[in-house]
Amino acid sequence: MNIAILSQKPNIYSTRRLLQAGTERGHQVRIINHLRCKLVIEKNKPQVYYNQQSLEKIQAIIPRIGASVTFFGASVIKQFEMMGVHSTTGSESLLRARDKLRSLQLLSMSGLELPKTVFTNYTKNVQQLIESVGGVPLVIKLLEGTQGLGVVLAESTNAAESVIEAFNKIKTRIIVQEFIKESSGTDIRAFVIDGKVVAAMQRKAKDGEFRSNLHRGGTATLVALSPEQEMAAIRATEVMGLGVAGVDMLISNRGPLILEVNASPGLEGIEKATKQDVAGQIIQYLEKSLSNHSHATPTQGNSH
Ligand SMILES: Nc1ncnc2c1ncn2[C@@H]1O[C@H](COP(=O)(O)OP(=O)(O)O)[C@@H](O)[C@H]1O
Ligand SMILES: [Mg+2]
Repeated sequence: MNIAILSQKPNIYSTRRLLQAGTERGHQVRIINHLRCKLVIEKNKPQVYYNQQSLEKIQAIIPRIGASVTFFGASVIKQFEMMGVHSTTGSESLLRARDKLRSLQLLSMSGLELPKTVFTNYTKNVQQLIESVGGVPLVIKLLEGTQGLGVVLAESTNAAESVIEAFNKIKTRIIVQEFIKESSGTDIRAFVIDGKVVAAMQRKAKDGEFRSNLHRGGTATLVALSPEQEMAAIRATEVMGLGVAGVDMLISNRGPLILEVNASPGLEGIEKATKQDVAGQIIQYLEKSLSNHSHATPTQGNSH
């Protein structure tokens, strides 16, 4: 199979592992910097140009689109989809997953538990907003944040008020969320491929920190999921329409709470903590979807 990894960063662990896993499984794999692609749109003839060349032989793509370039990245995926190329991440699903608020709205209506979350249009009534998530401590999140940046724990009403007012003043969109104390700085990252949890780790925040992101100094260990946690991760991925996802969950007194579903989850933490060949499983997922497709009636692109 002819596979392209869409990535701006050829040298990071995730990209290197995908390249290696694909090559080891006998595929032709190349890395394409999606930001340098040119999309040509004309009647029934979608094309992607890269270095002045039209990309025609690619059968499958593995998008690794950074959060800051979601719009362009999703447009590149869409163009490949129109050309009938298989993708581990659909363009619509990527856009959906990158909108934190919309994702929570969708997840909340799918039988999944999540921390109570409130969103307002820069409300002046901050006191009421604080009360609506049960008071302090509470968590304030930038809608556009990733890797734990832009996630703030406000322990006192004073702190909550001043942070919320500051974000409102500079017209930055935030959500306010109930703080799940009992999770005490740990969360679970379940890696889901093709409707199955292939690896799971527990992440623990460093001392004095409540965010367990590995980018914030958290540490990861292998964990066995309860059937309830496993079901929640699979359901959340299904709701988001993703073939590959990293589902973050908090363990609470009322069961697993979905925090977010990452459409481009990193491989380094999960492979090292669990010793699983996650990259290889992503390649196998592509192999399977391509062979299913070749047995079916050929169509151009997909239904998006
Ligand atoms: N409501 C909450 N209660 C307790 N801890 C939280 C809550 N929300 C987030 N956290 C902690 O902060 C981390 C980052 O939050 P998250 O919503 O996943 O943002 P990001 O997209 O930046 O990773 C989580 O992994 C978790 O450890
Ligand atoms: Mg997260």
